[in-house]
This record gives sequence, structure tokens and C-alpha cells, in this order.
Amino acid sequence: MSTLDNNIIHRHRTAMVRHDLSQPMALLVRHGLIKPGVQVFDYGCGQGDDLRILGASGIEATGWDPHFRPEADRSPAPVVNLGFVLNVIENPAERREALTKAWALAQQVLAVSTMIVGQSPIGGLRSHGDGFITSRGTFQKYYLHAELRALLTQVLGTEPVAVAPGIYFVFRSPEDEQEFLLNRRAGRRASAASYRVARAPLSSRPAAPTLSERLPTALPELAQFMRQRGRVPQLDELAAAVHTELADQKVSLARAVDACLGALLAQEEFEAAATARREDLLVHQALGLLNRSTSASRPSPGMVRDIRTHFGNQKELALQAVQYLHGLADESRVQATIVEAANQGLGVLDHRQRLVVDGSRAEGLPALLRCYLGCATFLSGEPDGAFVLRIDAPRKRVAMWQLIDPKEALPRAEISIRVDLRRQDVNIRPDPRRLLRKGQLLGLAARSKQRRAEDAYRIEQGLHEDTVFENLQT
Ligand SMILES: C[S@@+](CC[C@H](N)C(=O)[O-])C[C@H]1O[C@@H](n2cnc3c(N)ncnc32)[C@H](O)[C@@H]1O
Repeated sequence: MSTLDNNIIHRHRTAMVRHDLSQPMALLVRHGLIKPGVQVFDYGCGQGDDLRILGASGIEATGWDPHFRPEADRSPAPVVNLGFVLNVIENPAERREALTKAWALAQQVLAVSTMIVGQSPIGGLRSHGDGFITSRGTFQKYYLHAELRALLTQVLGTEPVAVAPGIYFVFRSPEDEQEFLLNRRAGRRASAASYRVARAPLSSRPAAPTLSERLPTALPELAQFMRQRGRVPQLDELAAAVHTELADQKVSLARAVDACLGALLAQEEFEAAATARREDLLVHQALGLLNRSTSASRPSPGMVRDIRTHFGNQKELALQAVQYLHGLADESRVQATIVEAANQGLGVLDHRQRLVVDGSRAEGLPALLRCYLGCATFLSGEPDGAFVLRIDAPRKRVAMWQLIDPKEALPRAEISIRVDLRRQDVNIRPDPRRLLRKGQLLGLAARSKQRRAEDAYRIEQGLHEDTVFENLQT
């Protein structure tokens, strides 16, 4: 609680009851930073619902809050969350203090989130300092996404990583940051991969247990590693349980890898994984150069091994990355790649030859366009959940719309995130629209029910057949 003009600001009233994880906690889980065995500390935990939900999944999570848990210890942890706290503090010096204290506890990563401009209507609110007093007597500051980045950089002395609008992760070590960035880019593809069921033996004669049966932990873990990195692991990259199983069964790593390639991972799949990892490293390196990221020169030990396998050495990777960057600056090359992507059915062109893509298919775009998008999401983070994006090569702009319910026949969006790469500017604003070409974006056949429904709607509304988004703003 703090006083102002004889009024009281009730900071704790901003703490809501949650039934699902808050967005920053959910993102920490999704990116594999919160996982069993990793402790979490929630700084400004409110009523503690995130702690309860994480605890129920076996995660050791504790927290402190000046109102709800003032007596709790503020203890260091690998993962610390400062979730929607800075925006409820009306005093800038106190915000910096909370940020510094939370960072001091973070051994590996600090997640910082705030409300951002455009997220809630402010009409009718009384302004106070750099924010507003709400009808419930609380204070809210709505940050510009870039303003939050500047605050974190200035106070913590290190560059944060944008994860979603208003949400940043700050890493303690450059190696962890690099590992996160690279895997984030590869993340969608990796998480979509599921284990294959081992092939049934050809003969029905009772046979000695196969290696798949003798190595129920090691083989799936090997397959997962090889799928993600496109290379064979070294022993020290595997979990202790795998070491024990291999030793107990007296099976060498090389033999286990062979068995894995026979049973769980097809050779072509492994080769495709190698190509994908190569491209990921290239895009990652190019973005590191472009953004002059200080951590880019500090790959994690695992990445160093990836680079050696896929490029021979760091110098070769750097050379190829520079060629990529030249490609990005070349507008006609970007536009040609856009047309090529549309011809391959990866997205659709609108009336101004801008490429519109379903977010779930962005990882399948040609590397040059992924690099283009990577530059945009470096500045803005990605929308949470399903979204549609649009690349405008001549104006060097990327726009993203988060879909409220992607299952709707004509999904709606309420907010857009627009990134101007020339000015390095992010603008998040109310922008209600209806998506009219979902069927095409998802690559559905023209005869599909979805496509027919879209056509019927366009005709009924008298909209041009190129219309991708119907603007609902009055
Ligand atoms: C909007 S709530 C967020 C709670 C929780 N992190 C969540 O996401 O559900 C803001 C919380 O910040 C707490 N708070 C206020 N001032 C703080 C400070 N200086 N340091 C840490 N937390 C503070 C409030 O008591 C309130 O519970």
C-alpha cells in the first residue's frame, strides 16, 4: 500500500485469482526453462496461484509478495519471475529497486513482464505520474514494449531477450542465452516431432529382447537429441539415467545410436534434422551479427559441437551468415523469395504483394524470410498462441495478429503488433480484423468446406477476392 494525495494506492488489489499459469510462467515452461528439478522463485507472487499450479506439477516453486507473503524468504533460484509487478508500482525508483532485487536472485534467468500500451482501454482513467489510477484505486503503467527493453538494459546492464509483447527474459550467462535463442527458433519444429513407435519384429518366433526393449530410456533420449540437433551426441550430453542404462546393459553409445537409427529414427529424418539445424545455426548467427548481440560470440558448449559438425568451424559459419545478411538488405531478393514462398503454398500474397503466413507455418519458410522474421521478433517477441503474420519487403515491415480463436471459420484478431525494421520500432495497437483466407493459409484445397465458406462470405460482403483481412474498425 502507498499513499498519494490523501488517497491510497492499493497495489495488492492488482493481484488476480489465476486458474492457469500466468503468461510469463507458461512461456518459461514452454521454452523448457522451467522443468522438473529446476527451482522457481516468484518475486511479487500475488496470491500465489502460479506457485500452486507449478507445485501441483512437481516443480519446486516459492515466492514473496509485500502484501500476501511478506514473511517469506527471498531466496535465489535458477528461474525468477517478476510478473506484472513493475506496472503496478507508481514510483519509478521503487520499480528499479524491485527489478534489481529480483535480478540479484536469478541464477540463470529472470522473466520480466508488464502491461503494455494498447492492452487495455485507458479512456476515463485519471492520469498519475507516468501511468493511471484505475477505478479500483490501483496504479497501472502501460509500457511501450521498447521502453521496457530500455529499462531492463539500463538497470540490469545486460540486453534482455524479447519473448512476447511486454515479456522479456534476461539471462545470466551468454551461453544460456544463445542456447535459448537457437532452440526457440527450432522450437516449434522440435516440439511437433513425436516419438515413433518401435517397429514390430518381422518374425513371430519368441526372440531375445531387442535393444529397444533393453534400452527404454536411452533410445528415446538419443532419438530426441538427434532429431533436435541433427547430429549424434557425445556421452557427456546425455542424462545420467542414460549412462546407467547403457552401462547396465553393456551397450556402447555407437551401438545404441545404430539401434536408434533402425528403430526410432529413419535415416532420412535424421538427415532432414541435420539440414534444419544447419539452417537454424545460420539464421541464428546472422541475427546475432545483425543485432550486434554481445552474447553471440559465446555459444554454449553444445552449440560449439553443432557448429563443428554442421560447418566445420565457426569461421565458415560466420562467412555464410554474412552472405545471408547481404540477402536481407537486397529488397528485390527478399521480394523474389516472398513470391517463391507464396508459389509453394506457404502463404498468400495480398493486393500489395505482401506475404501473409499462418504463424504455425513460419518455421517452414525459406531461411532468408525466417531471418527477416527473426529480426522482427527480436524487437517485439512473438504473439502468444495462434497468429498470422505479414511481411512487407519494400517497406521493411512485419505485422503480426494474434487470433482469438483460430478454430473459428473466419477467425478474428483484436490487436496487431507492427515492427518497422528500418526504424527498429514496435507498435502494438487495437486493430480488429477478420481473417478471410485461413483455408489458403493452411494449404487447404479450394474445394474444402473452409474455402467455400470464405468465398461465400466474401461475395456476400462484396469484398475483393484478394482480401486477406477484413478491417472491422469503424
Ligand atoms: C498484478 S500483481 C501480479 C501478481 C503475480 N505476479 C501474477 O502475475 O499473478 C502485482 C503484485 O505485485 C506486488 N508488489 C507491489 N509492489 C511490489 C514490490 N515493490 N516488490 C514486489 N512485489 C510488489 C503486489 O502486492 C501484487 O501482488
